[in-house]
Amino acid sequence: MLSKTIFSGAATAAFAVSALSAQAAIDESITAPASEAIVHPEQWPEVAFPTVLTEEGEAHVQALLAQMTLEQKVGQIIQADIASVTPEEVREYRLGSVLNGGNSGPGGDDLAPAEEWLALADAFYAASMDTAPGEPAIPIVWGTDAVHGHSNIVGATIFPHNVGLGAARDPDLIERIGQVTAVEIRVTGQEWTFAPTVAVPQDYRWGRAYEGYSSDPALVASYVGSMIRGLQGPPSTKPILSGPHVAASTKHFLADGATTDGKDQGDAAISEIELRLIHGAPYLPAMENGVATVMTSFSSWNGVKLSGHRGLVTDVLKERMNFGGLVVTDWNAHGQVAGCSNASCPKAVDAGIDMFMAPDSWRSLYNSTLAEARDGTISMARLDDAVARVLRLKQRLGLFEAGKPSARALSGKYELLGADEHRAVAREAVRKSLVMLKNNGVLPAKPDGHILVAGDGADDIARQSGGWTLSWQGTGMDNSQFPGATSLWRGIEQAVEASGGSAELAPNGEYEQRPDVAIVVFGETPYAEFQGDIASLQLRPELRRPIETMRRLKAEGIPTVAVMITGRPLYVNEALNSADAFVVAWLPGSEGAGVADMLLAGVDGEPAFEFQGRLPTAWPATAQHGGPTLFPFGYGLRYAEGARAWTTLAEDNGVDDDGSGGGVFFDKGVPASSWSLTVARADGSDSLRVTTVPATALSGRARISATDHDVQEGARSFAIDAHPAGAAVELGTHDAVDLSRETNGDVLLLTTVRLDAPLAAPLRMSVLCEGASCGADVPIAEFGALPVGQWQTVGVLLKCFRAAGADMTRITAPFRLTTSDAAQFSLARIALGSLSEADVIAQCPTE
Ligand code: BGC
Ligand code: BGC
Repeated sequence: MLSKTIFSGAATAAFAVSALSAQAAIDESITAPASEAIVHPEQWPEVAFPTVLTEEGEAHVQALLAQMTLEQKVGQIIQADIASVTPEEVREYRLGSVLNGGNSGPGGDDLAPAEEWLALADAFYAASMDTAPGEPAIPIVWGTDAVHGHSNIVGATIFPHNVGLGAARDPDLIERIGQVTAVEIRVTGQEWTFAPTVAVPQDYRWGRAYEGYSSDPALVASYVGSMIRGLQGPPSTKPILSGPHVAASTKHFLADGATTDGKDQGDAAISEIELRLIHGAPYLPAMENGVATVMTSFSSWNGVKLSGHRGLVTDVLKERMNFGGLVVTDWNAHGQVAGCSNASCPKAVDAGIDMFMAPDSWRSLYNSTLAEARDGTISMARLDDAVARVLRLKQRLGLFEAGKPSARALSGKYELLGADEHRAVAREAVRKSLVMLKNNGVLPAKPDGHILVAGDGADDIARQSGGWTLSWQGTGMDNSQFPGATSLWRGIEQAVEASGGSAELAPNGEYEQRPDVAIVVFGETPYAEFQGDIASLQLRPELRRPIETMRRLKAEGIPTVAVMITGRPLYVNEALNSADAFVVAWLPGSEGAGVADMLLAGVDGEPAFEFQGRLPTAWPATAQHGGPTLFPFGYGLRYAEGARAWTTLAEDNGVDDDGSGGGVFFDKGVPASSWSLTVARADGSDSLRVTTVPATALSGRARISATDHDVQEGARSFAIDAHPAGAAVELGTHDAVDLSRETNGDVLLLTTVRLDAPLAAPLRMSVLCEGASCGADVPIAEFGALPVGQWQTVGVLLKCFRAAGADMTRITAPFRLTTSDAAQFSLARIALGSLSEADVIAQCPTE
């Protein structure tokens, strides 16, 4: 076996020590080909993975395996997304699994009612059981991202994201959260959640840091067993579905929280010792508690993508740690393995993965995998092992006896979604997760006076819930999509009114009645994955406006409390200085009343609850990652300690960056720094860089002027005359940008445009990239259908450009609009964004 030769310690090649950190220099004697990271399985803990199948269960698995055709085997190891596969296709291809990605819902509706989720589960199940005579019927398994409650379902209980739970330091609470989540999943008929995330984030610039409980491996590890038991029940040979349970998945294996500069899907350039002791720590309790599945990471370790890392997936996880479950890849992550594409990756199977998450690529991947199994590129032994692991998951769940989803216990009991007793657990979790960083005595606030609730985050349930809530990014929702949930404002209002006081909501702080106390809710807006990556630890400028409100209120002599909604600690010294008290609420989820529980006194003036939250990671004194610490890991004030004196902090973020972030190429009619707007002939010649307006280009046949959008002169108008050479408007840069990560998700290029006259000919949209013939051109018929004189945001999925052949790793112009005829239009903004931000979404060729 290849892996054994590499890791046996036999010197095959001189190993570049520089590839590892100094700490790993002790491994110098071990050598490996330069392309592979070193792995010492024998240094990893040996675990006794619990027995989860009876002998009869295992015999059933083997009997099925013996009956299956090669086609059926290949189908079992492929998981498609419900947005890209029909029950009929599941039947035809005998697919083993489906998932709903963050933006996928029944009938293309993310917000579909619970009944439709269950009906779709039945349809997929029926398709999987509809077999030809003599062919074994293997029920499908459905995986979902129930990462903070059953968070894709309208009306479900939404728990605080993991970073907040890390603050609570309460493993028993974690187990109860797991139980509630499992019950709510069962109501809509799914059997598997891609949770818990057991990342140990080391750099909070990472857009997924909030999905991890803590930067401390011991704290993370102390939760993992509890969450797995809550979700799956204690490890036993009893079928999981016979109790109120589902299969869990620890993700993302391994060191997703260790990537350089906190780049999502990036590279963890760390030693094996760090890998094992920090990022490997949560996998020990995961194995001991018999986690059913492990999801591999998008990221790499020392340059080798985890989905193709045989040393870690097979030698460490499966052989040394005796993992008896199934390894699933992440969303098209196999396509990032060296030598692979979304449509083919024998390397991942060889490395030890058992199921491909191939959301939209499942068909081409099925065909190539089948061919590779036929010609021996994929060994039959490995394929059989993968299939056996899929079958074992199904056997362990009890799927073969469970019947159709709607016939199972808990299914269709919609009253359990967001049930009072479930919300009570979530509200307790909110209370326990809040961390008080400052209190000069204003807290607890008296509930019988007049309370002003201000700040842009006060009455916004989507905002307090963060990413992975109803949609992938958690954006595009309003409070009406959260029946039964409570915003922070509503929770305060209810408590105050119950105590004989009054409350007033004024996001900008302009109150009608002078308040006794003001509570200003501010912080981050929702994001998921790489869309949350930031260059420095601070809020975007527009999210800092409520700090002005705090200052103003304070200047008026009104005692002010800052409540911060955030997925991570950020530099906010201005807010800490201005407010009289400061409480971090993290991403509390649907039960905003838990915040009121902590901030307001009882009628006797005493705190109703004591603070329990402690920082799950250090709080920074500047916006610099790795810079000075303001509050250490574990910090958190208690009411019992009384008021604390405050020493004014320096208001210096310590970095050059103002926090405005990337992804915006053109805004308010002006290119972002390092980007330029040019007008040229369609072939790129005769180009003019537009710096001031009005301007003329192409010998007078293109005229550029300013027009209003949102703000005065917030857009540019282009009046182009007909000419055989055509014309192009382009936004470009000298330093190519890598948009491949964005392309892997539902990220769009958003163009806020107004047609100023009907189009004489269709506009074409292209991206250009560094080097020859790596760009792509996509006709956008939707431009022609836009109403004249009206601003619209047109979205083109980045995938469309990739499908048309663009190399998304080195884009020099993400936006180029070409016309072959006369055209008049205006542009206000060109940026990357999500589906919910587009008025019109362009059709495009699919891969
Ligand atoms: C994420 C996973 C998630 C999967 C399915 C991926 O992009 O990295 O955490 O489980 O998508 O939505
Ligand atoms: C899906 C997510 C997935 C992401 C991968 C999105 O389109 O909805 O579930 O995690 O892509 O980057």
